[in-house]
Amino acid sequence: MPQRAAAFEILRSVLDQRQALDEAFARHAAPLAPRDRAYARALTALALRRKPEIDAVIDACLERPLPPGARGVRHVLAIGIAQALFMDTAPHAVAATAVELARAMGFERQAGLVNAVLRRVLREPKAFDAARAQASLPGWLVDPWPAAYGADTAAVMLKALLEEPPLDITLKDPAGAADWAERLGADVLDTGTLRLRQAGAVEDLPGLAEGAWWVQDAAAALPARLLGEVRGLRVADLCAAPGGKTLQLAAAGARVTAVDRSSARIGRLRDNLARTGLDAEVVVADAAAWTPAEPFDAVLLDAPCSATGTLRRHPDVAWSKSAADIYKLRKTQQALLTDVARLVKPGGRLVYCVCSLQPDEETASPAAPPPGFAPEPIGAGEIGGWDFAIRADGTLRTLPCHLPARGGLDGFYAARFRRLP
Ligand SMILES: C[S@@+](CC[C@H](N)C(=O)[O-])C[C@H]1O[C@@H](n2cnc3c(N)ncnc32)[C@H](O)[C@@H]1O
Repeated sequence: MPQRAAAFEILRSVLDQRQALDEAFARHAAPLAPRDRAYARALTALALRRKPEIDAVIDACLERPLPPGARGVRHVLAIGIAQALFMDTAPHAVAATAVELARAMGFERQAGLVNAVLRRVLREPKAFDAARAQASLPGWLVDPWPAAYGADTAAVMLKALLEEPPLDITLKDPAGAADWAERLGADVLDTGTLRLRQAGAVEDLPGLAEGAWWVQDAAAALPARLLGEVRGLRVADLCAAPGGKTLQLAAAGARVTAVDRSSARIGRLRDNLARTGLDAEVVVADAAAWTPAEPFDAVLLDAPCSATGTLRRHPDVAWSKSAADIYKLRKTQQALLTDVARLVKPGGRLVYCVCSLQPDEETASPAAPPPGFAPEPIGAGEIGGWDFAIRADGTLRTLPCHLPARGGLDGFYAARFRRLP
């Protein structure tokens, strides 16, 4: 029960108050025992990932709209339907616990309705197949995909987004890959990322506390590699927190300056540096206004973005953002690009990246490089043989449907430039 109550509060925070899933989870699941916490996370992520289908089922069952004060009943129903259709919860428990949850959340008057809906869904789940097949993610999110990636790929992406993503980690010392793969029960991907076959609770995994690795999707580990050999170079990692790419660059021997304007997120970056024993200069500043003493050999700009590339891990993004956000983000990305170009030495590299699936956020493009820069196409073989992710124009594009037999990838875009001498 406490895990379902937490799941209810998390859904309410995310969907009614537009709080990010991670924040809502931290707030409402903190008091739970580890197992209940893991269950609440899995349940809420599933309810959000399957929201279009779950909404279609709820709409098919409700004869009239819920009264204004009882909108939260939809979250109770969503939790029950997620369990009924997509989890192996015992059928008798689904309806009973949903009724109990409805009462506990103050929806005594709707308890009968909750019971009736869930019993119907359990009795005739196939009756909703047609409604579910029609359900789709919001238009601002998915409508641009067919033109950008092709209709077939866009359809496969939608399916891939329904899957729970694997847990990927980056090792501080890549030479230890075989040993750590064995200890963690992981596969070593072509790019050196370790992909765990069974994740469980991250905190319990060997090597985390002693800083031998950090969690980072295999696609998120690619942009930092595009700076090439960085040993001994001065590298600015802009928009750096919580620091996955800073850690990679520091582990590769770069003298890194990590800049982020959020002091809370920089706190997490510092914790990550301390845990891994890696070193970087840390600056809390707006990268657009920040003026270091001298420019850098290389700059990585992991620009603020819609994060739709991480939908598998953060399915709340589909419900918390809108077309207006994409428009604003593109403007921000354009301004940041213009402002940070001055931080690159003549002859130095600039990599722009975003964890987005939206073509409008491919803001830095070889077709229109920042003034004073030339595109530097990413070459075949540069990213562990994953040439499927390198486009004809030399940019990087990963999609959730890439690497299908091994659990997919987060969506990332990256473009590389060199400052003219
Ligand atoms: C996509 S996240 C970065 C992820 C990080 N690079 C990593 O690999 O762990 C974007 C970050 O940009 C930061 N940010 C947004 N606008 C910024 C700005 N103008 N200057 C500095 N940081 C900014 C946010 O605080 C956020 O931490």
